[in-house]
Amino acid sequence: MYRLRLFLFAGICTTLTQSVAASEPELTVVAGGGMATYAPASLLAMPAATNVTIPGDVAYKRDMSFRALPVAALLGGVAPDETIRFVANDGYVANLAAAPLLARGDGAVAYLAIETPDAPWPPLRAGESATAGPFYLVWVRPELGGIQSGQWPYQIARIESVAPLVKRYPVLAPAPGLSAQDPIRHGFAAYEKHCSACHTLNLGGDATIGPDLNVPYNPTEYLRVDALRRLIRDPQSLRRWQDAKMPRFPVANLSDRELTDLLAYLRHMADRKVPLTPTK
Ligand code: HEC
Repeated sequence: MYRLRLFLFAGICTTLTQSVAASEPELTVVAGGGMATYAPASLLAMPAATNVTIPGDVAYKRDMSFRALPVAALLGGVAPDETIRFVANDGYVANLAAAPLLARGDGAVAYLAIETPDAPWPPLRAGESATAGPFYLVWVRPELGGIQSGQWPYQIARIESVAPLVKRYPVLAPAPGLSAQDPIRHGFAAYEKHCSACHTLNLGGDATIGPDLNVPYNPTEYLRVDALRRLIRDPQSLRRWQDAKMPRFPVANLSDRELTDLLAYLRHMADRKVPLTPTK
């Protein structure tokens, strides 16, 4: 996974951090018409719990083994056309299509890796204590399902079935008259997949880790196309500072064609701004 995490509590509020760390982590699942809360031990006690080995794990960038549960075991009653939202502790929100999460068999299969207090995972970064736990979405054979790095949310607190992003935030939609083949539509799909986990656009979206990408100004209005392409490919190649949180999008994750379509969508949305009330 490519996020850097904000640990705002560290140093500011040691007591709170300690009490949070001491209490058992919980996972809330709201799906298939039911709601349940699980502790790691209760998930690992399920019959489907198993060990998975992940070559080149996305969060740890090396081979890893985890105790895990097929995600499908938690999504009883969920239909393949639903959207499943994974909410992480720091506000990162991945909206994933249910179909690949429900798949079992020989293709890409999603597992919820579960960290237990007696077998803690290594820290994500040297010198820090945070791990990818307590719950982390990993994939076996991801290449068979075209699964990309944004589909490996970690530090998960909540998994819930929701209406698709654009149903909940129609302000994200491009003009209704465009054909299904229009590059702007493809660009919108790329935006949903790669950018909506952190940004809003027209103030619509689940996460607010990064700035809104349309109001008051759309980046296509103040960055040259080549600079914007470069920023998306590698933000630090345009502007560098220690605490930057936007990840790189190399060609392996976002093809040149997808990037071109994404820019077409962003440019298109500059003509579809929501009115903005003045800030104080
Ligand atoms: C993991 C979270 C994350 C994801 C995913 C992400 N961004 Fe960002 N983005 C940020 C943050 C945070 C900033 C503010 C700068 C920083 O801290 O890196 C930012 C800044 C930007 C900026 C600069 C805005 C400005 O004027 O300074 C643009 C443009 C941008 N993102 C576009 C995108 C696009 C397009 C995508 C999808 C391909 C994307 N971002 C995906 C977190 C993210």
